[in-house]
Amino acid sequence: MTALSQTALLLELEPVVERNLDRHLAVAKEWFPHEYVPWSEGRTFDGPLGGEAWSEGDSTIPDVARTALIVNLLTEDNLPSYHHEIATLFGRDGAWGTWVHRWTAEEGRHGTAIRDYLTVTRAVDPVALERARMTHMSAGYANVHDDEVLHSLAYVSFQELATRISHRNTGRVTGDPACEALLARVAADENLHMVFYRNLLAGAFELAPSQAMRAVADVVADFQMPGNGIDGFARKSVAIALAGIYDLRQHRDDVVAPVLRQWDVFNVTGLDADGEAARDQIAAHLDELERAASRFEEKRDARAARLASR
Ligand SMILES: [Fe+2]
Ligand SMILES: [Fe+2]
Repeated sequence: MTALSQTALLLELEPVVERNLDRHLAVAKEWFPHEYVPWSEGRTFDGPLGGEAWSEGDSTIPDVARTALIVNLLTEDNLPSYHHEIATLFGRDGAWGTWVHRWTAEEGRHGTAIRDYLTVTRAVDPVALERARMTHMSAGYANVHDDEVLHSLAYVSFQELATRISHRNTGRVTGDPACEALLARVAADENLHMVFYRNLLAGAFELAPSQAMRAVADVVADFQMPGNGIDGFARKSVAIALAGIYDLRQHRDDVVAPVLRQWDVFNVTGLDADGEAARDQIAAHLDELERAASRFEEKRDARAARLASR
């Protein structure tokens, strides 16, 4: 069987997009970012309005929660780049186009809500945040697989779920019920996005199983969070992992494995030689992730024991 072209894939998947768009619109619940922000806690800042500058003591949430909130927000902030990527690949017409615009509108709410919360509660330095946003957005974002439909669908299936977990756990470590409620709401959106993309790739597995398997294998092998271009991302992601907000164990057990299970990758039939090879690579990568996650957990436990004995 010859491989389907990118255009053929988009065309063949259009009915799946249509069905899942209808499904999404039926289950997505309308919500309002302003309802999640404790406006009465706010105070005017310095500058043109002559209020009070931000100071370290203004923030009442733990350091690592601040780090995670900044990473999550900067990730949401780069939406114009993500929109560009999917609008270019999926197109702006038909069901694909309707999804591209709807998804963009939903994602736009996330950045708005989180920024309003952070500014009103003075949880982070607003000057540093704005400078970080400028740097991050000025660099733009491009996914390594941004010219391939199935690779992109595989990537966003994992990425939306990763983002869901990261938001939810960030909310938990803030210790602030208002922030937790806001991030749980955002996380619920990310989950529906994951379901949409995962269902599309499930459709691709029926249509072109070997191409879908290849896409999944390539994507799990070099998966990077969308915020990986953020200044100091390596250091920040270590802190985030040490706090259990997003670590290798969660990446393997709560993101990669459950999505693979939904696609039932180890029981897919009708694969050609490359499809079989891709599936073997996925299995090997899961084993490698298992080893790396265990190593990380041991190190984290040892570090916790060291800190406790001090
Ligand atoms: Fe989002
Ligand atoms: Fe999302």
